[in-house]
Amino acid sequence: MAEPKENVLMEKIVSLCKRRGFIFQSSEIYGGINGFWDYGPLGAELKRNVKELWWNTMTRQRDDVAGLEATIIMSPQIWKASGHVDTFSDPMCDCKGCKKRFRADQIEPSSGVVFHFYGAEDRSMNKALLDQLLADKSEEEQRKGKERYLELLKEERDADILKEELETHLRSGIPEVRDAAADKLRQLDSLERCTEHFAVLLPHGKPRESAEKKASVFFQQKGIKVPRFSAVRTENVENTVSYCNDCGCELTAPRPFNLMFKTYVGPVESEDNVAYLRPETAQAIFAQFKNVLETSRQRVPFGIAQVGKAFRNEVTPRNYTFRSREFEQMELEFFIKPDEVVEAIKGRVTPGAELDTRHPALDTSSWGWEAWHKYWVEQRIAFYEGIGLSRATLEEYWQKPEELAHYARACVDILFKFPFGTQELEGIAARSDFDLSQHARFSGKPMGVFDEELRAAWGKLPKEKSDDLWRRYYENRKKYLVKMGVEAEQAAKDATNDANGLAKGQYIPHVIEPSAGVDRLILALICNAYSEVTETDDKGKSETTVVMKFHPRVAPIKVGVMPLLKNKPELVKKAQEVRDLLRPWMNVFYDDAGSIGRRYARQDEAGTPFCVTIDFDTLGEKPELKDTVTIRYRDDGKQERLAIGELLNWLLPKIR
Ligand code: GAP
Repeated sequence: MAEPKENVLMEKIVSLCKRRGFIFQSSEIYGGINGFWDYGPLGAELKRNVKELWWNTMTRQRDDVAGLEATIIMSPQIWKASGHVDTFSDPMCDCKGCKKRFRADQIEPSSGVVFHFYGAEDRSMNKALLDQLLADKSEEEQRKGKERYLELLKEERDADILKEELETHLRSGIPEVRDAAADKLRQLDSLERCTEHFAVLLPHGKPRESAEKKASVFFQQKGIKVPRFSAVRTENVENTVSYCNDCGCELTAPRPFNLMFKTYVGPVESEDNVAYLRPETAQAIFAQFKNVLETSRQRVPFGIAQVGKAFRNEVTPRNYTFRSREFEQMELEFFIKPDEVVEAIKGRVTPGAELDTRHPALDTSSWGWEAWHKYWVEQRIAFYEGIGLSRATLEEYWQKPEELAHYARACVDILFKFPFGTQELEGIAARSDFDLSQHARFSGKPMGVFDEELRAAWGKLPKEKSDDLWRRYYENRKKYLVKMGVEAEQAAKDATNDANGLAKGQYIPHVIEPSAGVDRLILALICNAYSEVTETDDKGKSETTVVMKFHPRVAPIKVGVMPLLKNKPELVKKAQEVRDLLRPWMNVFYDDAGSIGRRYARQDEAGTPFCVTIDFDTLGEKPELKDTVTIRYRDDGKQERLAIGELLNWLLPKIR
């Protein structure tokens, strides 16, 4: 659980985000909608910068990556093939008391006393029965009977006592009384009862009544108006995850809950028209793999990048924007040759451990999946460092073999130290040839590539080598097919065909997938940038202000332009000229309202790295300073003078 100090920090960050227009709750005027967030003016700029930097780094500045922008709604077959329809679910529990829904793996362990309630039956029914029983008695007898009944209720033994009373009637010598008693006993046996067990966990020392109240509400909802329990048992428990973290009531057993948002395409809402909002951008890349390959003149190894919206009906959206229901992803699918192909062409696969992938050799031709995977982990960390998230704020988590998806060979999560805990920013997975293979099987369209180098190399391999590579490729293909439910004989046949393809220069590429969330990165950048500065004046009065120390490359506003005074037309004119000079190149904020100190403070809160002030020296009061401006640095408040003519070239390398 987060420390209070961290909660306080998060509260300050959330409040600043609203106050300064970084992030707003979606549909706020209607009370909001859980798991959905809007970006205000500063947030929109920050987000745009981050996406653009990712796009430039991953595509434009590389020769081996092409871009894609696909639709959000695609053929539902895509989600069948990818496994999302059948397995994209979270284990979910419901609280039997407050009805809140939790992800089973996110329940905080709790300890205390559990009160187990058994055999709830309806006291109000007993009351009705008693009324009937007393109906043919004199007024005096009725009064006495009711008084006795109320006493019995207090003792909570009414049903049994009633039964006893009726049984005495059964022994009566009068047949009518016997018959009536027998009749009422039958009614008593069919009393409204609930056999369901219900339990409530209370912290040690909390009174039992509190649990009883919750149990009563639970059984009332089941139609037992005045529940009475045949047994209540208590049990001491430690670190259990079977009870609601909010109200202590028992949780249902976990059950899978598919996270995809469902909709219908066209005017008819039938099963035939079901479609899904994409839960990841990756699958469109696989589905368009052949089209991109053919139109971009790329050859394996190469990647396809996409940035766009994804939707997941998360069971418990939480931690501000960290887990949202609508979010954006920046995904790269980097297609590589299977290791058997690299080995056939180059004679060996360079072991990942041998490589310093931060400075990749020019020749990557002997890289197998391990080296490419390592390379992309380093590239992605370097990207984060380049936008201000130092290595000290990041962690690498290498998933353990038992945590990996069945098709994955490795997966590294890049984690960021958020105030609420160290959590995933991005996952970098080595996904084998699973995705392309699935789409090939489901669509019936081949997803393999032809590689002339492989065909030429294969013919020259010693038989022992080609047999060994053939066997390894065959085994991998067969393993995948059997795992996907293809019958063993058929799987062997298909795997044989696939392995025979190697000799003809054909294979299905494997993939390395760096998959990052835009919104998580924005939140990380905001948390990372947040800092407070406290200054005390001569009179001992101190004031704390917020400085958002964004890296200039991501900062929403790059430069604040300010005339020293707004009532001096020459200063204003010059400041507007500076603004117009910079505007085509970057986001500039022109501010002439209030004292210069206030204006600087406003820009500090917005995270603007530089402020440019136009003063009387700019106008030539000191002739040697004519046409120079003051540059003020956000992070240390230092100032220096620069000629207006040099300003653009001074700023550009800092913000790009
Ligand atoms: N194609 C692989 C894939 O989608 P993922 O780990 O489910 O993998 C990748 O998602 C990234 O997308 C995560 O590391 C995270 O940054 C972001 N992401 C996933 N679910 C999210 C959510 N509910 N809200 C915000 N970001 C999310």
